Amino acid sequence: MKIIHVVGARPNFMKVAPVMRALARLETLSQVLVHTGQHYDANMSQVFFDQLALVEPTIALGVGSGTHAQQTAAIMVRFEEVVVEQRPDLVLVYGDVNSTVAAALVCAKLGISVGHVEAGLRSFDRTMPEEVNRLLTDRISDLLFTPSEDGNENLRLEGTPPEKVHFVGNVMIDTLVFLRPKASQLGSALRHSMGLREYGLVTLHRPSNVDEVEVLGRIISTLNEIAGRLPLLFPVHPRARQRMQSGGILPLASNLRLIDPLGYLEFLALQEHAAVVLTDSGGIQEETTFLGVPCITLRANTERPVTVSIGTNVLVGQDMGLLRLELERVLDGRFKRGEIPPLWDGKAAERIAECIEKARGHA
Ligand code: UD1
Repeated sequence: MKIIHVVGARPNFMKVAPVMRALARLETLSQVLVHTGQHYDANMSQVFFDQLALVEPTIALGVGSGTHAQQTAAIMVRFEEVVVEQRPDLVLVYGDVNSTVAAALVCAKLGISVGHVEAGLRSFDRTMPEEVNRLLTDRISDLLFTPSEDGNENLRLEGTPPEKVHFVGNVMIDTLVFLRPKASQLGSALRHSMGLREYGLVTLHRPSNVDEVEVLGRIISTLNEIAGRLPLLFPVHPRARQRMQSGGILPLASNLRLIDPLGYLEFLALQEHAAVVLTDSGGIQEETTFLGVPCITLRANTERPVTVSIGTNVLVGQDMGLLRLELERVLDGRFKRGEIPPLWDGKAAERIAECIEKARGHA
């Protein structure tokens, strides 16, 4: 049996690593890793391959940046050639990025089975490019691996045949559990001389928060004001950096500690000891829930509702008053405490490997 894994953007790398490791234990199975090149900066890509001990991609498509249509189309054209040449039995795609939907669409047309890792998540907000990617990918996938029970429910309501859906848990947490001891060893040097729980960590990259100068300016000004009370460390995503530079927003960020994007281990070490994380990322909502660290999410909705209902996450959208209020709760020790959702136990990838083994037995 031959499996192709398709990754392209930063959040894919920590999801593919445990799945490749779990599948490596199955006999007579070969694995090919395709990197679309959606993310290409060393600190958005190579550092993750090094730290996650991922094999180098067997095939690199090198598509780079572009509009959604350009990027998706370029991946499809190049990936189609790979599939025709390699003739895989199964293609695994991860998460909700453009690389995922592009690869799934190619396979659906060529009659190749697709497995979607992190299936069923819905923000119910179609203005998010990721929501469109999720809906389409789930619709055309054959194996749907869900990280949480809401995923099963969403798929059921959309009429997905139940035999396609497998509730396996969260592979992102597999990587966290696996690498946490290593991250913890990185110690205090990383905290830029800030004490335990004496700083906040910020990430922003959603188009809805960073693409409009006025919106981004308002967010940065609020964060800058907060940083007067709680030091804020902000590893800046390339998309946000471009907008801050071109929009003349950098002067509004004088109190923020702006740094380049971090590697997986460094970011995990900082998350673990932060007083609070302020973010618009998807995966970070999950990681903070697992770590029990307060998370304030600058989005009006989330495709990961268990992080709110069970975990440590609250949504504040772009309401800066609400953001300040939630931050007060953190600083006063009144912020909600959370629990870890079912099957976020470090073994999701093993369950995926079991499903694939069973499916192979039936083929
Ligand atoms: C993509 C994903 C998003 C994910 C995020 C993680 C989609 C639709 N979006 O968003 O779900 O949360 O990755 O980072 O797939 N750039 C660089 N260097 C890079 C990569 C990007 O400079 O290595 C710049 C480019 O100018 C590019 C911009 O950042 O145009 C945005 O990159 P892109 O991959 O299009 O989307 P992200 O915002 O990163």
